Amino acid sequence: MENTNVYIETYGCQMNFSDTEIVSSVLVNNGYSMIDNPENADVIFLNTCSIRDNAEKKIYERLMHLKQYKKKNKKLVVGVLGCMAERLRGRLLDEREIVGIVAGPDEYRKVPDLIETALHGTRGIAVQLSRVETYDDIPPLRTEGIAAWVSIMRGCDNFCTYCVVPYTRGRERSRPAKSIVKEAIGLAEHGFKEITLLGQNVNSFYDEETKENFSALLKSVAEAVPEMRIRFMTSHPKDISDELIETIASHKNICNFVHLPVQSGSNRVLDKMSRSYTVEHYLERIAKIKEIIPGVSLSTDIIAGFPSETLEEHQMTMELMAKVQYDGAFMFKYSPRENTKAFKMEDDVPEDEKLRRLNEIIQQQLNISKELNIKEIGNIHEVLVEGESKKKKEEWQGRSDSNKVVVFPKADTTKIGDLVKVRITKSTSGTLYGELI
Ligand code: 5AD
Ligand code: SF4
Repeated sequence: MENTNVYIETYGCQMNFSDTEIVSSVLVNNGYSMIDNPENADVIFLNTCSIRDNAEKKIYERLMHLKQYKKKNKKLVVGVLGCMAERLRGRLLDEREIVGIVAGPDEYRKVPDLIETALHGTRGIAVQLSRVETYDDIPPLRTEGIAAWVSIMRGCDNFCTYCVVPYTRGRERSRPAKSIVKEAIGLAEHGFKEITLLGQNVNSFYDEETKENFSALLKSVAEAVPEMRIRFMTSHPKDISDELIETIASHKNICNFVHLPVQSGSNRVLDKMSRSYTVEHYLERIAKIKEIIPGVSLSTDIIAGFPSETLEEHQMTMELMAKVQYDGAFMFKYSPRENTKAFKMEDDVPEDEKLRRLNEIIQQQLNISKELNIKEIGNIHEVLVEGESKKKKEEWQGRSDSNKVVVFPKADTTKIGDLVKVRITKSTSGTLYGELI
C-alpha cells in the first residue's frame, strides 16, 4: 500500500482529544502515517464538538478554509469525526461537498475502511451508537510525555435538558477497572507523570464484573502508580459520595482539585435543567469537600440565560458563586440544541441580556480568582513542570496539585516532568508566580 498521510485536528472537550488518540492508534495499526500539519495530508479529519452552536460554527468555518487544500490536492479526503458527525449525520454530506467521510464516536474502528472507500471516490458514513463500545483493547497513540488522559467510561445517561451529549455520545458504559489500572502502570513505565481519568460523568463509573465504583477505581489507580499525580473529570453533584471525598483526601497523589459543575444557583432552574440536585444539596457537598480535603481547589461550569431564567434567579447564581468561592469556572451563554428537551422551551432571555448576565458572572469570577490567588502569596506549592512559560523562555510553567498554573524562573537542573517546590511571590486571577525553593 502506498503511504497515506492522515492529519487530525481536534476540537471540544478532553474526551475528543482522547478519542483522537484512539483513532490515530487504529490508523497506525492499519498502516497509515499520522502527521501533525495539514500541508502534506492525504486525509484531513476534524474531530468535532456540538456542545454549543458556536462550537459548530467554528467547524463550518474550518471546512470552508480546508477548500484551499482540496484545490491544491484534488484527491484530498476531508472527514468529520466526533459529536457533530453523530448529530448531523447525512446532513453533513448533503450540505458540504467537501466532506467525504462522516464517522461518529462509536464508529472509529471503521475509519480505515471509510478512508479506503473515500480515496477511491465514494463518500462514506458510519454513525451507529453502541451500548458496549469502549475501545478498551485499543492502546491510545500518545505523543506527549508528561500528562496523559485515560478514558474510563463513555457516554452519558443524565439527559440534562440543555445537553446534546447523550444524543451524540450515547449510553453510559465503563471500561473494566483492571484494564484501566494496567494502562496507568504502562504510562508510569513510559515516563508519564500525571493521569487524568476521563468521563462525561466519572461518578457513574461501575465495573459490572468486579462491582468496583469510581471511588474504588480511583483508589486502585492511585495505589498502583504512587509516583504519579491523579486527576479526574467530570463529577456530577448528585453522586459525589463521602467515600469518594475521603479517597481523595487519603491519597497524597490524588490531586486536591474537584471540578463540580453547578450550572445554576436557582432550584427552579436546576429542576428545569433536570439536574436532580438542589442548591442546598450542592452546598452541603461543597462544605463536605472543603472540610475533608484541606486546601482543596474547586471549579465549576455555569450556564447564563437558560430558558425562563429571571433576573432574580441569575442573582442567585451570582450569590452561590460568591458563597462557594470557586478557584475557576467555565461560563457559558445558553445555546439551544436541537432534539434536547430544553429546545422545546421558549428561549426567552434576549441575546443581549444573556450576554450581560454572562459578563457579570465572568467579572465576578475574575474577582474571586484574583482574591483567592492573592491569598496564595507566601504559600509553597508542589509543581509539575510542564514546559517553558508561554511568555518568557527563561521561565518554567507547571501546575500545582490544586490545578493552578504556576510560573517561576528557570534555575539549577530542573527539567520538564520534574516535581518541584515553589514559593508563591506574586499572582494574578489566572496565574501564580514564584521561585524555586
Ligand atoms: N448551552 C450552553 N452551555 C452548555 N453546556 C452544555 N450544554 C450547553 C448548552 N446547550 C455547558 C455545561 C456543561 C459544559 C460542558 O458545557 O455547563 O457542564
Ligand atoms: Fe465533548 Fe460534549 Fe463537545 Fe462532544 S459535545 S466534544 S462530548 S464537549
